[in-house]
Amino acid sequence: MVAIRGTLKGRDVISINDFSREEIDHILKVSDCIEKDLDSKFGLLSGKILSILFFEPSTRTRMSFESAMYKLGGRCINMGPTELTSVKKGETFSDTIKVISKYADVMVLRHPSDGAARYASEISDVPIINGGDGTGQHPTQTLLDLYTIKKESKLEGANIGILGDLKYGRTVHSLVYALSMYGIDMTFISPPNLSLPEEIKEDLDDKKISYEECERIEDVIGDLDVLYVTRIQRERFPDIMEYKKVSGSYKITKDMLEEGGKENLIILHPLPRIGEIDPDVDDTKYARYFLQTKYGVVVRMAILGLMLGGFE
Ligand code: CP
Repeated sequence: MVAIRGTLKGRDVISINDFSREEIDHILKVSDCIEKDLDSKFGLLSGKILSILFFEPSTRTRMSFESAMYKLGGRCINMGPTELTSVKKGETFSDTIKVISKYADVMVLRHPSDGAARYASEISDVPIINGGDGTGQHPTQTLLDLYTIKKESKLEGANIGILGDLKYGRTVHSLVYALSMYGIDMTFISPPNLSLPEEIKEDLDDKKISYEECERIEDVIGDLDVLYVTRIQRERFPDIMEYKKVSGSYKITKDMLEEGGKENLIILHPLPRIGEIDPDVDDTKYARYFLQTKYGVVVRMAILGLMLGGFE
């Protein structure tokens, strides 16, 4: 096991920008050590409690955090659907956070509002993990994305394309910032009205990170080592008619990959997918998106273990 340096102990995980490249490398290294010797980690967080507050639906983030905590010997308390809680009676977000932070050692929060996790971290007694805040960030997804890229392709010198809803996709926003720390040039592929927000592009320009933008995956697929596909975030559109204009505008197929993709191209997706990767791709050598969900457990074990001081 890599010795912990205390970099995460007692800290919040709100934005990927709160971490240096060295700290991210350390989390990935700890994840790798955990993966190589998974069974010996049970009991490291014995007696610790993770509280789970999700104000938006989730399968992977919620359940992989639960799995990670149980694999470390800790326990979870889950707020469950908000309609079964005192939120329904009108209890404020602030009071809810204050109270639940008295019940646990760490809290993972998902919320539809950008900035909700940062706000929660200012009023909570225990560290907060941002499990996705509106169109903001999803930093633990990014850490598992980086881990998958490192294990299944390469981080240094990779040509990475990011396809889909770059405007509203929070996994994209945190991934772009993380890849920029590794000096990776990126290709952004999206319908014109779903392109990456201007402020993120300005941040890339300030860091002298070069990027290309295009509308059609077919035009660039032959150049890519990694293609990160995302769904169009229907729930973020203020006008459903705008969603309908772009819905179904791209789809990755087995033929497309076999005809135009590099030999070693890999396909990632944070999931859920809503038709943007044909199921025929699942059994090809390109697909890594289900393996990516498996890596999510070890990476979240590393995050929880480092935050709660479970590792030596
Ligand atoms: N990737 C991800 O955040 O999935 P869930 O919405 O299912 O948690």
